[in-house]
Amino acid sequence: MRIVFEETSGKIILQDYPGYPVAWNGQQFRIWKAMPPNEHYFGLGDKASELDHRGRAFTNWNTDWGGFEKGTDPLYKTIPFFIGMSGPSAYGLFLDNTYWSSFDFGKENRDALSFGAEGGELDYYFFYGPDPKAVIGEYTQLTGRMPLPPLFMLGYQQSRWSYFPETRVREVAQEFRNRKIPADAIWLDIDYQKDHTVFTVNRDAFPHFEDMIHDLAQEGFKTILITDLHIKKQAGYKPYDEGIANDEFVKNPDGSVFVGDVWPGPSVFPDFTREATRKWWGTLFTDFVHMGVRGFWNDMNEPSVFNAEHTMPLNTLHRVEDGRQYRVADHREIHNVFGMENVRATHDGLLALSSDIRPVVMTRAGYAGTQRYAATWTGDNTPTWSQLALSVPMLLSLGVSGYPLAGDDIGGFGGSPTPELLTRWIELGTFNTIARSHSSLNTSNHEPWADGPEQEAIRRRYIENRYRLLPYIYTNMEETSRTGLPLMRPMFLEFPSETTLAANDREFMFGHDLLVAPQLSEARDPLIVELPAGAWYDYWTGIRVLDKSPLALHPKLDQLPVFVRAGSIIPRQPVIQHVEEIPQGPLELNVYPGPDCHGSLYADDGDTFAYQRGVYFRVQFSCAANADSLQLTMSSAEGTYTPWWKNVQVTVFGTPRKPTRVLLNGRPFEPWQFDADNNSVSVLSPYSRSGLELKIID
Ligand code: NOJ
Repeated sequence: MRIVFEETSGKIILQDYPGYPVAWNGQQFRIWKAMPPNEHYFGLGDKASELDHRGRAFTNWNTDWGGFEKGTDPLYKTIPFFIGMSGPSAYGLFLDNTYWSSFDFGKENRDALSFGAEGGELDYYFFYGPDPKAVIGEYTQLTGRMPLPPLFMLGYQQSRWSYFPETRVREVAQEFRNRKIPADAIWLDIDYQKDHTVFTVNRDAFPHFEDMIHDLAQEGFKTILITDLHIKKQAGYKPYDEGIANDEFVKNPDGSVFVGDVWPGPSVFPDFTREATRKWWGTLFTDFVHMGVRGFWNDMNEPSVFNAEHTMPLNTLHRVEDGRQYRVADHREIHNVFGMENVRATHDGLLALSSDIRPVVMTRAGYAGTQRYAATWTGDNTPTWSQLALSVPMLLSLGVSGYPLAGDDIGGFGGSPTPELLTRWIELGTFNTIARSHSSLNTSNHEPWADGPEQEAIRRRYIENRYRLLPYIYTNMEETSRTGLPLMRPMFLEFPSETTLAANDREFMFGHDLLVAPQLSEARDPLIVELPAGAWYDYWTGIRVLDKSPLALHPKLDQLPVFVRAGSIIPRQPVIQHVEEIPQGPLELNVYPGPDCHGSLYADDGDTFAYQRGVYFRVQFSCAANADSLQLTMSSAEGTYTPWWKNVQVTVFGTPRKPTRVLLNGRPFEPWQFDADNNSVSVLSPYSRSGLELKIID
């Protein structure tokens, strides 16, 4: 049998490679597809590789690989989904198989791509766009979408292995406030625990743990705790005793409980594919939730075990058990979904404990669909320029694989970055979806102030900018929760027809309107920036870019080139130190005139599910220019949420001359300012929910 996918016109989209039928070898199978010469391949999650997978091959087996490098494969996640793009047309293919699997995009045979698995069903889904956004929409409709995260997850976050003891945690948080560097969360790694035992607290080092969480909250800091999935094998330790009593743990083929070494020494592993075990696991968070801990970090959930296999032996037995089915499956089948079932249990457990608070869970391992339960990060990177560069395709690949809520360890985990590298990394990190600094034991301090006042000033400025942009970022995240489209977007997603940009590994779109072109090396060579066709503005100055693309830039250490697409309206706010602080001043609307000029703004309480009951705020903006005027319209507000601002500061860039007058809702309005340095007009207008119409007349 040979399968061919065609358009109704007869144009072939994807077809089995002639002469290569599906091959079976025992439990294994493999499929070959013809590979057109100009097709590009994207996805498979955060593979440590170029964005375009053409000419490369990958395997999927969730693996804890500390200190990975470009080319290390496999890593922590299995997302067997890719997008194929020929010219502007895209299709997607999802192999829904949890066994060890592999994909080859023309490495073995330059005319064929192939994929297969070691066992399980041959079960794949085909999606046709042809717009690549439609492919992501369909794929995430099938596998699920990221739920709207709480607003604080989009703020700056500080982590390290480990902030220890309690006095140090308090000191770090206080330093952020003293130095006026905005931040929203502090993450505690395994040393807050007693003997690295999950759900315990080392009371010698953290004598006032509950007070600490409370005091941090008073300062606007959320505390996030690591809670790995392995449970110390120790009689008298409640999670172990309860788990043994109720038969909650993964087993060996002889029926005994599987024991593997991890941080606390010999440990046992909840059988997360059992519904009852997931429910029980969820209850273990009760005390921490009552203490006010706001999020949980499930690490090591590939699962990582310190033995020769680095994980459970393949013949370890899992029970797949819920109200509908009971069967026993071995680790070959369950390995790649074990981490997902772990964070599913955490997520659902948190919801059971606080039904109106958006759960915050961070996972390292994952399978297609894990985006429904947890945020993620790319794992144990290192502080090198090449890893900084690698973070871009890794995060972009995750995004197009349906996993948008992701970041990397800013600064590099396994070592001490130079001051310049950490500064560049923080700059870029503030344009990642999650901006979280993290580092390993025995590395230099990675906090923004760690390298003296000059570096600190640059880093503060970028973190502040992140907070200014929060209205835009949150609006985009709300869109992600509905459509699956990521905030960090490869160029091909926004500009599918610009085929020369398809494989661009360095530039990306941050939402629909901002183009980020980071400097990712120490080299003195110019930074070449390719701007897609159309007009662009410099985000930092508001000045229209007049040079012809490609631009050759030499960004100084304090410069991260960011451009705004003409035809955008970007909402911003005054700087705050954390998301619970009410911004002082007006909502800013920065208008960059151009074709199809529009924007939107979404807001809600940022923490609960009230938005699902209508307590949200949404407005649409549009702008239209004609020969002698520009008109900005803000729609009336949808939803019942009342946001913080009383006034709106509208700034229209690209205004060549001082206008003659400004009309607000049809009436002459003053004051307004013209700035000849960047050709902008600024108007401070009172805000009402019924919207506004502003006309700037030449
Ligand atoms: C491995 C994780 O990848 C890392 O982020 C963490 O700091 C260590 N485990 C210790 O928990």
